[in-house]
Amino acid sequence: MKVLVTGGAGYIGSHTCVELLNADYEIAVLDNLSNSSEKALDRVKEITGKNFNFYNYDLLDYEKTDKVFSSEKFDGVIHFAGLKAVGESVQIPLRYYHNNITGTLNLLDIMEKHHVYNIVFSSSATVYGMPEKLPITEEFPLSTTNPYGSTKLMIENILKDLYVSNNRFSVTILRYFNPVGAHESGKIGENPKGIPNNLMPYIQQVAIGKLPQLSVFGNQYPTKDGTGVRDYIHVVDLGIAHVKAIEKKLGETGVHIYNIGTGKGYSVLEIVSAFEKESGKEIKYKICPNRAGDIAACYADASKAKRELGWEAERGLDAMCRDSWNWQSGNPNGYDD
Ligand code: NAD
Ligand code: WQD
Repeated sequence: MKVLVTGGAGYIGSHTCVELLNADYEIAVLDNLSNSSEKALDRVKEITGKNFNFYNYDLLDYEKTDKVFSSEKFDGVIHFAGLKAVGESVQIPLRYYHNNITGTLNLLDIMEKHHVYNIVFSSSATVYGMPEKLPITEEFPLSTTNPYGSTKLMIENILKDLYVSNNRFSVTILRYFNPVGAHESGKIGENPKGIPNNLMPYIQQVAIGKLPQLSVFGNQYPTKDGTGVRDYIHVVDLGIAHVKAIEKKLGETGVHIYNIGTGKGYSVLEIVSAFEKESGKEIKYKICPNRAGDIAACYADASKAKRELGWEAERGLDAMCRDSWNWQSGNPNGYDD
């Protein structure tokens, strides 16, 4: 069984490659390295002791992407490739729409041409917009609050339309909540360029001394301690969810949608104190105004994934913080070390 992983050099992609190889899938990776390093793939090979082809191609390059499908026969595709920074997407929306939408359109056209009908797509809890109640189930109404989120929702709709037009497709849409953590080997992890946007990588850089303190965006939300609450999911559990999705849904035609989270919500201050405990480092912080566009709380009802994929998260907050710190402290400059 062979799977093409687009965006496989990235944070979630590299962890998923490890889980696929450990489960004896053959893989190939296509990535333009716009937000990643080829060294992540060397580390994947080191961790698993297995080899695979890497295509340093852009999905926007139709001819080259087409060539990959001519030279190897795939049973399915896991599609991670895309730009993902919410704030940047507000600044440069056209680049986001072009990269994420046109890249996906090229991929889907080429898949259909080569009779590859199985796809797992990386969607996001961002498609639930401002949810009215919690926990969030897959049936909640969908809306978006920024261009990045809009690309995710548009791609979900494109995939649904594609299935209507050609019911040989098997589409699995995984809506991730907040991925954090790193592989327990400490060899791969999140490697943000510049100052991190997301909470966990920001905390990691405060702990290592690269950033002076964390800005906590708001402490007056209607939550347990006033700070924002999210459903953090260990990236290894997330990688395993993709293997389960391939195992259970490959070849089952239709559109299958799953929330991928733990179902538990933790506040910013709970994350800070769990990280301090696991790392032994003090995380200095100051309370700042709310970040525009943030919601108070967000967590999943992940029971559908448990029922239908036989998947549930196994790693708790301690492991998320421990593995994040293990990666960060062993690789203070990410893959540049
Ligand atoms: P990432 O940036 O680490 O990985 C994405 C990869 O795609 C990168 O390696 C990048 O170089 C590659 N890429 C981007 N555009 C490309 C193109 N046109 N052609 C080829 N390669 C291209 O991000 P990640 O955190 O691993 O996220 C993976 C996927 O999951 C993304 O689609 C993201 O939107 C989605 N997602 C991420 C999160 C999160 O918080 N990390 C949450 C929900 C959904
Ligand atoms: C988490 C909490 C912040 C940084 C984003 C995307 C979402 C998905 C996952 C891709 C919030 C607070 C954060 C900081 C803070 N990505 N915070 N200080 O916003 O839930 O989700 O990543 O699909 O689409 O929007 O994640 O890690 O940025 O924030 O206080 O420096 O931490 O306010 O409550 P978010 P996050």
